[in-house]
Amino acid sequence: MQTLDWNSYLKPPDISPAEHKAVSGGAFALHRDIIGKLCRILRPRSVVCMGAGYLNDIPLDTFVAGDADIYLVEWIDGITEQAFRHDLVKNLENRFVCLVCQCTGDPKKYCRNYGDEPPSPLRTAKPQDHCENFVPTNGSALCGNYAPGEFPRFLHADVTGGVAGHFARQVGAILGRAQKPQHAFREAVHVSARARANAPLPLADGSIDFITSSMVASQFDFEPYTYFLHNLYLRFGREATERNIDAINAVAGALRDNLFLKQVEAHCREMARLLKPDGRVYFSIEALHRSPPSDHWFYAEIAGKALEIVARHFLFDLDTLPEIIAPARTDMVRGTSIVHSYLLVPKAPPEKTSAQPVLS
Ligand SMILES: C[S@@+](CC[C@H](N)C(=O)[O-])C[C@H]1O[C@@H](n2cnc3c(N)ncnc32)[C@H](O)[C@@H]1O
Repeated sequence: MQTLDWNSYLKPPDISPAEHKAVSGGAFALHRDIIGKLCRILRPRSVVCMGAGYLNDIPLDTFVAGDADIYLVEWIDGITEQAFRHDLVKNLENRFVCLVCQCTGDPKKYCRNYGDEPPSPLRTAKPQDHCENFVPTNGSALCGNYAPGEFPRFLHADVTGGVAGHFARQVGAILGRAQKPQHAFREAVHVSARARANAPLPLADGSIDFITSSMVASQFDFEPYTYFLHNLYLRFGREATERNIDAINAVAGALRDNLFLKQVEAHCREMARLLKPDGRVYFSIEALHRSPPSDHWFYAEIAGKALEIVARHFLFDLDTLPEIIAPARTDMVRGTSIVHSYLLVPKAPPEKTSAQPVLS
């Protein structure tokens, strides 16, 4: 039986960062703006961006200006590195502006080839566009002399602590055993209920000041469910699957729910584990959606379900940037969304007490 393995499924699309940004950059401008404002207020020294992708929502210039330790987490191999090289130097009408030069600390933290002339006090007094080692290129990365520094660190990892991959890696076996599509669905429901978070990010507990999770949770509704469907069609064909659609519909909702809820739970646990006690999480999720030709808005039920889980792990900060809670209308690649954004504060761990439990 031919199935597509999980790693091959998560392969980078065949387009350049510039092309991707041209199509989807606008949809994330709102988040980039809010995260930039939060960063200027909170001045985090360590930042983790969950689902960093093409960095459309990541204000790298602000993070670098604040001399932050930056960790960019993405499960599609290589796309965030490519996007970073693309974003490193901007061509503003033939003025080449390198973001490393905006660093207020040691720029070599971000580029080992940073040329240290003129010396730092002068650099602070008059920020340069680029350093003396800048070598223009014609490629999409505009400096030919960039050499990765200690940061940003690119973590090729699953932001659900491995829940998605734990399920996905069992899909081939589930389909191999199933005689009919509905049997595969039924077994997948059981397997998804036991999906485990077995791959935490390689970062210490309580070490991070600021985490971004913008629109990533919305994607937990699609993957790895779509990966399962993709392989189901490879195994049984679309026709056979559609012939059994009533039996499938009876269990498909349970599979999708299990996968979504398990991933949100593991994602929140992982963020709560990483965050310092006074740290903050920027969290956003699609709450309503409208796609042409319909004139009507649909409630994204997952938003309510996700928020219940978020609220079990975090409290809400509505004061640092009050505008954050205003629902924002955003044009996406397909259709329009109303996005809800929150600033989250970790809940204090339950105090250990020797008191006897109260019995009612
Ligand atoms: C909605 S996009 C967020 C925008 C993204 N920062 C950008 O600028 O392209 C979600 C990103 O998260 C990644 N992603 C989704 N689920 C993930 C997971 N479980 N682990 C790691 N990355 C994930 C996707 O591959 C995608 O790049």
